[in-house]
Amino acid sequence: LKQLSIASECAPFVKTGGLADVVGALARVMGDFDVECRVLLPLYRQIAHLAKEAREVMNLGAAFGGPVRVLAKKASGVSLLLVDAPHLYDRPGQIYLNEAGLDWKDNHLRFGLLSWLGAEIGRAGIDGWRPDVLHAHDWQAGLTPVYARASGAATPPCILTIHNIAFQGNFPATMMGTLNLDPAQFTQSGFEYYGQISFLKGGLMAADQITTVSPTYARELLTPEFGMGLEGVLNARNVDLSGILNGIDTQVWDPSNDPAIAQTYSSRTLAKKNKNKQALLRRFGLGADRTGPLFSVISRLSGQKGLDLALEALPLVLDKGASFVLLGSGETALEYGFRELAQRYPDRVGVEIGFDEDLAHLIQAGADATLVPSRFEPCGLTQLCAMRYGTLPVVSRTGGLADTVIDANAAALVADCATGFQFGPVSAENLKEALFRAMELYEDKKAWQKTQRNAMKHPVGWNRSAQRMADAYKSLQEN
Ligand code: ADP
Ligand code: GLC
Repeated sequence: LKQLSIASECAPFVKTGGLADVVGALARVMGDFDVECRVLLPLYRQIAHLAKEAREVMNLGAAFGGPVRVLAKKASGVSLLLVDAPHLYDRPGQIYLNEAGLDWKDNHLRFGLLSWLGAEIGRAGIDGWRPDVLHAHDWQAGLTPVYARASGAATPPCILTIHNIAFQGNFPATMMGTLNLDPAQFTQSGFEYYGQISFLKGGLMAADQITTVSPTYARELLTPEFGMGLEGVLNARNVDLSGILNGIDTQVWDPSNDPAIAQTYSSRTLAKKNKNKQALLRRFGLGADRTGPLFSVISRLSGQKGLDLALEALPLVLDKGASFVLLGSGETALEYGFRELAQRYPDRVGVEIGFDEDLAHLIQAGADATLVPSRFEPCGLTQLCAMRYGTLPVVSRTGGLADTVIDANAAALVADCATGFQFGPVSAENLKEALFRAMELYEDKKAWQKTQRNAMKHPVGWNRSAQRMADAYKSLQEN
């Protein structure tokens, strides 16, 4: 079966969050499940080097306001189809934001073109290859099913995955013309959303199947609290919505073979993990050999992630001997808040504002526990990486966090199946309690190590979910 993923990010090439990891991992693992995967990705300036020795496989002349070509290239085990449209993608700044940190004004065109090309490749094929299934990811590819429907029955079926419903791609109705959208579809059952064009809503209405990235988020999405205005649309299409849990790339995230950490280890050689803790403490200038647990955060700094609650709760455990390191970037107020925490606790708190893959690995290897106190979390990947590294996750009971972490409550400890700590509802008070429970378990070295081993054993790879995804593709193809 041939599948085309349409996405705005793909690891290891260009990444702002988990979306990239998932798109890249799917492209690499689906081969084992009889699915031949290609990824349609904008050729951003950040990845311009990929154009070298790439083959031109489509030349559209002018489209969406400038010249557009598609280049084919295989890199890091992924078959890429790169959208070369310099007027839309060859520019400084970040992939969604300009240098002033604001959305690019032409994001509708940048991701409209991506979406449209997905449908076009579905219709006409490319490079002698025509996909049996289109797999669109998030709002940036939301219009693919819309364009695919508009071009008639010849296009393959389309699956749309919601990685995060907070981002919907809503734009003024006046942009319909430049996007080549059919005004007849500007209705409630089409891509119209409160008088605007909505990429995601349009996609949800037009897709043959909708998935999201965890079973709990699939249920949550149907409620006003989590559906962010689209719960009505999703309820109307409930039959199609399934939650297929994300995995992580267990080769990239492997404590027994990780070039970015100070000392490799496995569940049988857990004592060696301590070398990474010492290296991490040194890296942040915190001085080695402390007794309390080292908590960590690796995250986008946004309201979603509940890190304002961490700012409230952390001083209480820091005062009791814990330490803390953070790697992240995003909202100014949060960056400021964590910098300030580091100033208040210069020998207990280390903060690095930025994006740094290698440091993320060292933190996963060196920390004792990691915090993911999200207000909502479609799946979450950091808690999965943490478990693989024997770093116990402290998570809120929501979305994929609820589906992947087994709370170290009394029953789970007796049954020896705990893998971390859960708290809920999301509040600073409840986070604080979970942190205290973690501190307490940390004192009981044996129980802590058992929990670490459970976490490291927990299946966090793609096997089960990739099979489910392959089954979903096949049943679409057959229907
Ligand atoms: P989201 O996609 O909502 O940001 P996920 O947990 O699904 O959350 O994925 C986040 C991914 O990005 C993880 O692989 C995490 O390690 C990585 N990440 C987040 N922030 C940083 C950072 N500042 N530096 C390096 N990696 C980061
Ligand atoms: C989104 C979600 C995150 C999920 C990721 C990959 O960014 O916020 O929870 O893990 O997509 O699906």
